[in-house]
Amino acid sequence: MRNTNTSRREFMAMLSAVGVTGVGATRAFAQEGMPMRVIPSTGERLPVVGLGSSKVVQEVATEGSEPLAGVLRTLVEHGGSVVDTWPRNPDNDAAFGRVISEPDLRENLFVTTKIDQVGRELGIAQFRQTQQLYQRETLDLTQIFSLTDLDVHWPSLRAWKEEGATRYIGVTVSQFGLYEQLEEFLGRETPDFIQVNYSITERLAEERLLPMARDRGIAVIINRPFMNGAYFRRLEGEALPEWTAAFDCHSWAQFSLKYILANPMITCVLTETSNPVHMAENASTAFGPVPDAQARERMRQFIDSI
Ligand SMILES: NC(=O)c1ccc[n+]([C@@H]2O[C@H](COP(=O)([O-])OP(=O)(O)OC[C@H]3O[C@@H](n4cnc5c(N)ncnc54)[C@H](OP(=O)(O)O)[C@@H]3O)[C@@H](O)[C@H]2O)c1
Repeated sequence: MRNTNTSRREFMAMLSAVGVTGVGATRAFAQEGMPMRVIPSTGERLPVVGLGSSKVVQEVATEGSEPLAGVLRTLVEHGGSVVDTWPRNPDNDAAFGRVISEPDLRENLFVTTKIDQVGRELGIAQFRQTQQLYQRETLDLTQIFSLTDLDVHWPSLRAWKEEGATRYIGVTVSQFGLYEQLEEFLGRETPDFIQVNYSITERLAEERLLPMARDRGIAVIINRPFMNGAYFRRLEGEALPEWTAAFDCHSWAQFSLKYILANPMITCVLTETSNPVHMAENASTAFGPVPDAQARERMRQFIDSI
């Protein structure tokens, strides 16, 4: 059983370490709840920052559950709930299933999975095994990974939703090269969610995909907010401009996340991290102001000049 006092102390230390003190920390502990955005197909609301399928998820079988549990609890303590995953191997998925079934996490997570197999039967087997190993009769969201065997799996996803085995269905992309195929799919089908790569450094989705999702009533989850870490390498040695303080931005991570969250067409952004301090920093970005149109233009110009 978790010691709340210790965890709160640790959490305060984390917040302090990332510069989230005073008003920010009070906010986090006031249980104000992380800001949420509406899933258009149902009206349900989703917290705006989630956890991606990080190293701690991938290594839970070999490295133990503590690193994953620490990151997940930090997310939940900030009022977050979305954890994006996909099946790896049975040992790992069973260990992951045990962590997300712990009493304080079970009812507080919005758990996604993906189908990445080629072939109808393999896709079905993958989903059924995920249900079993994640210990969930109903997944929150099931997605086709990077449009893999899209037209083969899509009828399966629709059937699982129909039978109540998944609450929502969707598809993912994380490369510009798949946008055209995704747009074509959205022209004929209406998933509940799409998951797309988008950030201050990868802005192509702004042009057609995001408006298309908005017009079609489709929720949008964002991946690669930090280009899987390349963003930080690009900004190494660069000082954060002082003008970013106007929208409560205190780190390069928050710079990218604030840019994404300022876009009302976005429902939730995933951040992949194995570090609870980074999770706290990323989740705390959900609270507070976002840059206005003028500030967003300044952010784009700044990044393009680096
Ligand atoms: N096709 C698909 O379906 C697809 C493809 C790609 C991604 N995704 C999803 O999207 C998620 C996120 O995208 P991504 O994989 O490209 O990762 P990302 O979130 O863009 O970047 C992860 C990197 O950023 C670092 N990081 C995170 N927060 C930080 C902070 N506050 N300060 C400094 N460094 C920080 C992490 O290191 P630390 O661990 O040290 O924090 C890691 O190296 C994935 O986990 C996955 O769930 C889906």
